[in-house]
Parts: sequence; C-alpha cells; structure tokens
Amino acid sequence: MLVVAGSASPKLSARVAKQFKCQLVRPTLWRFPDGELYTRIPTELNGEHALVVQSTCYPQNDNLVELCFLLGAAKDLGAERVTAIVPYLAYARQDKQFKPGEAISIRTVCKLIEHAGADDFITVDVHQEEVTRNFSIPAYNLTAMPLLGRYLNGLKLKNPVVIGADRGASERAKQIALEMGVEYDHLEKQRVTPEKVVTQPKRLSVANRDVVIVDDIISTGGTIIEAAKILRRQHARGIYPACTHPVLAGKALQRIRAAGIKQVIATDTIEHRVSAVSVAPLIANVIH
Ligand code: R5P
Repeated sequence: MLVVAGSASPKLSARVAKQFKCQLVRPTLWRFPDGELYTRIPTELNGEHALVVQSTCYPQNDNLVELCFLLGAAKDLGAERVTAIVPYLAYARQDKQFKPGEAISIRTVCKLIEHAGADDFITVDVHQEEVTRNFSIPAYNLTAMPLLGRYLNGLKLKNPVVIGADRGASERAKQIALEMGVEYDHLEKQRVTPEKVVTQPKRLSVANRDVVIVDDIISTGGTIIEAAKILRRQHARGIYPACTHPVLAGKALQRIRAAGIKQVIATDTIEHRVSAVSVAPLIANVIH
C-alpha cells in the first residue's frame, strides 16, 4: 500500500501513511507556461493498493483536476486498486436542480472521479449522504463527529450541551453528544404567537451552559454567527462552533472572532489553522 499525497492534503496524506506505516509519495506537479497542470507519480505502483488523498477545497476546480490526473496516473502505473480519498467533496451542496437548467454539479464531479480511475471512493461528512449514490463503484461517507466529540471532551466545558445549527445538523449534534455523554438539540424556527417567529433550541435550555454549535461546513460563518447571537440571547455561557470542514471563505474567521467567538474546532479534511482534529484514524479504520 502507498499513499499518494495530493497538493491540497499534504498533512492528512502524511498522517494516513503514518497510520499504515506505508510509503508516502509526493507527486511531481508544476504548471506549463499556459497554466495547464503537469502531473507525475514518480514511483512504481505495479500491483499496489494506491490511496490518493486529495481534498477538493479552494481552488476547487484545480484540486479536482489534480485529483483526476493522479487517479489516472496511478491506474496507468498498474496499481491493483486505486482508492480516491476526498475528505472534503466540493460541489456537494449543488446536488439537485433548484431552478430549471441548473447543473447538478455533484453528479458530474462524481462521474469525473469514477471515470478518472477510482476503484472505490471515501469521503467524510458529505453534505447529503445520498451524494454517494452517484457512484457505481463502492463509495463510503465517514463521519468525524465522534472524533470531534472526543476532542471537545478534552476542553472541560461547563455543563455542555450540543446544538445543531439547524434541523439538518441535528443528527450530527447527536453523534457528538453521544461521544461526550451530554444532551443535544438543534435550532429551529418556532412560532410563539400568530405574529411572532423566533429561532431557538427546540427542547433544551442553554442558560449558563457551554454550547457546542455543530455544522458540517463553516463557509462564510454567517450560520454560526447568527446561531451564536440567538444562543447568547438565551444566556448561553461559552460558544464553541465545531464542524468537519473549515471552508472559512474570505474573512470568515475574522468575522467569527469579531462576533466574540474565540475558538473554532474543525478537522483536517481541509487543512487550516483551526484543524485540531485529524480524520486519518477514521480513514485508516475503514480501509482496514
Ligand atoms: C448548509 O446547508 C450547510 O450545512 C452549512 O450550514 C452552510 O454551508 C454554512 O455556510 P455559512 O458558514 O456560509 O453560513
């Protein structure tokens, strides 16, 4: 077995290779004068199981093309099996036509990965589980929530409660809460009078408690900042946003900090300075 390190996931690739005590191959990558990408895997792969690790975070299109080139090159080198490990799968949120004529982007992305040479596919906390049905090869969606829960346990939070940022994040909140052995809930719009709708935790009180807000992705930070405002109005103590994928587009982290949130907890599906939790053990476990 060998790990081929895509340029978007150098640290995670090294961590996965360490899990298997196997060789880490860093491909040769450079740009032609016109901007096209040159890709070469400079090692023998004949009969090997090649794990190609490449997140499709920003710049999504470049990282996707590199992933496809690496999968094809690994296949051409005679790898017996090529596993595409795409910890953050770009375009997963464009999984249907919201308006006629829109591209179902994720469907095409999945086809590209499969046709490029992947024999199987692994991702983490994809936005909608159904996305894996776009593949005809075996495709696995892992969850980092228990790993995040274990990390949060180490923070010694005061009477913590885990709150999903919306109904969609409720299952994720449950998985973290189970690991922490605490209560969970999610934010929901509720009609309190015929004229008034408020967003608040569906069942639980957060007053004087440390609150972990969970989402799969933090992108602009808008969802988390809004959730934090609501929870503060409900007298929450500390606010701890936790997510799998720290997309953190543009000045998102500064905006989150300006909103009085000191710490964001995320994984290395996207390598960022807030990536405190590695998904390498998760990936190793499913491959084992
Ligand atoms: C949306 O459905 C996702 O689960 C996240 O809530 C969303 O992507 C977060 O985006 P932002 O940080 O821009 O609010």
